[in-house]
Amino acid sequence: MTTDNNVQVSVLGLGAMGGALAGALVRAGYTTTVWNRTPGKADDLVAQGAKAAATAGDAVRSGGLVIVCLLDHTSVHEVLDPLSTELAGRTLINVTTTSPAQSRELAAWAAQAGVAYLDGGIMAVPNMIGRPGASILYSGSADVFDRYKPLLDQWGTSTYFGEDAGLASLYDLALLAGMYVMFAGFMHGAAMVSPAGVTAGEFATMAAPWLTAMTGAFEGFAAVIDGGDYTVEGQQSLEFSNLDGLLTASSAQGIGTEVVSMVQRLIQRQIDAGHGKEGFARIIESIKQPG
Ligand SMILES: NC(=O)c1ccc[n+]([C@@H]2O[C@H](COP(=O)([O-])OP(=O)(O)OC[C@H]3O[C@@H](n4cnc5c(N)ncnc54)[C@H](OP(=O)(O)O)[C@@H]3O)[C@@H](O)[C@H]2O)c1
Repeated sequence: MTTDNNVQVSVLGLGAMGGALAGALVRAGYTTTVWNRTPGKADDLVAQGAKAAATAGDAVRSGGLVIVCLLDHTSVHEVLDPLSTELAGRTLINVTTTSPAQSRELAAWAAQAGVAYLDGGIMAVPNMIGRPGASILYSGSADVFDRYKPLLDQWGTSTYFGEDAGLASLYDLALLAGMYVMFAGFMHGAAMVSPAGVTAGEFATMAAPWLTAMTGAFEGFAAVIDGGDYTVEGQQSLEFSNLDGLLTASSAQGIGTEVVSMVQRLIQRQIDAGHGKEGFARIIESIKQPG
């Protein structure tokens, strides 16, 4: 990775994630000023070479790029609103988790204040920052992304989605939606085998390679969805995908059926609409057009 160690940076927010982001920049040799609402969280970073600011205003006034990693959108406004004058003409990168609408609102706030703005969505936990596997999604100012990419790359793989500041958050939340439903699927399977004396750990050793292999189906589903023709030969039909057997077996194990029932409902709505012979990927139409 290339670095531009002449860049000065201030990091506002030294929680688990902000501390990890600041630490990666300090270790990479960036001149880093740090601030946190509750004192004491900067001590380790100062020992590594960061400068601690007493207030958020002092951190911003120390110059350079401003990075914000706070709890949520409200806390970002609480910290930045009083500093809009100091921030005018400066560059702000906000990696706090926000909704697409909140990211767009902050981009508009920044434009009004004369601040160049880039929004980020972190696809990693703190101990992944600066290691392989960490990914951070960005949208907003392309100029800011291009200029600071060497710095952003210190945290993980940096991917830019476009000038609409809400896009990074949209991708972030869409990926998390997929993750949570997959996790629920794993939990359902673990609950299903539990009455048979199978531990969750034993089930995990089977589920991980199985689900990993199944992600290979995404590409084929995507080709069908993007092609818009669910009748293409070779697909598993919706009728063939009937999950009654899974529901019956789950109930027989004495467990809840919410997770599988949710998928069954998506399938059934398409069958009821006369599409039973078409491919399984068609359940996306049940999701796109809520019943
Ligand atoms: N941790 C993760 O695995 C992870 C993964 C992806 C994204 N993120 C996102 O990263 C952001 C930070 O997460 P985190 O794990 O660092 O959370 P955290 O450990 O709970 O830290 C929250 C930070 O926000 C500050 N804060 C909260 N309310 C504030 C306010 N009103 N004014 C000023 N500062 C305020 C806290 O300051 P005090 O120390 O004074 O309370 C602390 O620095 C969140 O948006 C989170 O969704 C986290």
